[in-house]
Amino acid sequence: MERRSAERRAWPRGPAHLLVLCALLAACEATGPEPPGQEAPRVPLREVAAQREVRIGIGAAAGRYFGATTGLGVKYNQVLAREFNVLTPENDMKHERLQPSRGVFDFTRADAMVEFAEQQGMKVRGHTLVWHNQNASWLADRSWTAEEAAALLDEHVTTVVGRYRGRVAAWDVVNEAVDDRGVLRPTPWAGGAGRSYIEQAFRAARAADPDALLFYNDYSLEWPGPKQDSVFALLRDLRERGVPVDGIGFQGHFEVGGGTPSRHALRVAFDRFAALGLRVHVTELDIRVPVPATAGSLQTQAQNYRDVFEVCAQTPACDMVVTWGFTDLDSWVPGHFPGKGAALLFDASIEPKPAYWAVHDLLSGM
Ligand code: G3I
Repeated sequence: MERRSAERRAWPRGPAHLLVLCALLAACEATGPEPPGQEAPRVPLREVAAQREVRIGIGAAAGRYFGATTGLGVKYNQVLAREFNVLTPENDMKHERLQPSRGVFDFTRADAMVEFAEQQGMKVRGHTLVWHNQNASWLADRSWTAEEAAALLDEHVTTVVGRYRGRVAAWDVVNEAVDDRGVLRPTPWAGGAGRSYIEQAFRAARAADPDALLFYNDYSLEWPGPKQDSVFALLRDLRERGVPVDGIGFQGHFEVGGGTPSRHALRVAFDRFAALGLRVHVTELDIRVPVPATAGSLQTQAQNYRDVFEVCAQTPACDMVVTWGFTDLDSWVPGHFPGKGAALLFDASIEPKPAYWAVHDLLSGM
């Protein structure tokens, strides 16, 4: 409690800013600025958002340090709860985790995340029900007839969404169904038969939880091209036929500078899908830089982060930005992009980076 009230009193900037403000305001004399090298108390992002009545959710994916009780794991869980008001399981709601053997479900970690989110007043974005990747080997390593696949899909979606009925605000129902050329990917869920599995997944999810928002989620939709066109056509068709798709998730895996879409491109992309009546979420934001990062690349990254949050906040249909992890201590980026990393808001010691302060400044000014 003492820490929280200290944070509420605190200035939302680092020590240099404090010195300037404190020179002007006698009220600072009671506590004074932070000594150099010590973390300045700060108003957490979610509290700034609450104070300013910011209408977008600010989330993070929780990864392998979730629930850890030693070392930096303790800080990880404190910061996750303190800074964010939305939680997405990075891996713990994927098929291989939830249904490791056929018909045998393991909800241990997923339950813990949902309970943690509820205790901390966070919404949950469920990720992900139907994907071609990270499926249990019993599903992935053989072929299924269309009838078999449809029954398996129904069982999985109904069981998982039903378990969290009323507790998960939004689901990534179908993830990455289309490749970079705009062509439907092979997936065990299709059972060798076209794309009807997509419609089936949304209908099953709606039946299992009528109140959850149902999303199609994918990457590289932020730029115009065949993939964006193909997903647009897919979702337009689903909407026209009354299939319950509520939203589009723009994953937002970017590279600093030119590898981040311009504000204009983002606006155009968000508006294009919003015109179908879809809600927009940024679901997996990270902005990688060449490592070791430089002060310059971290400043550009900060501006890129600010742009994404700002365009979402300015788009009526966009009401959530979730980063894919929140600390460079635990990110998928270095393992998948050699020579790249430092993609998140907090550094590997879980201290805020310039990108954090850029988002903080943006929210503070809203
Ligand atoms: O769980 C095993 C562990 O038992 C084993 O010891 C270890 C050894 O490598 O691997 C662990 O599995 C890893 C898993 O993450 C959990 O940490 C996999 O190797 C690794 O490939 C897997 O990577 C995940 C990736 O999806 C798989 O495609 C990343 O953590 C996860 O961040 C990433 O997330 C995806 C989204 O779901 C969809 N959009 C793209 C995004 C980034 O790829």
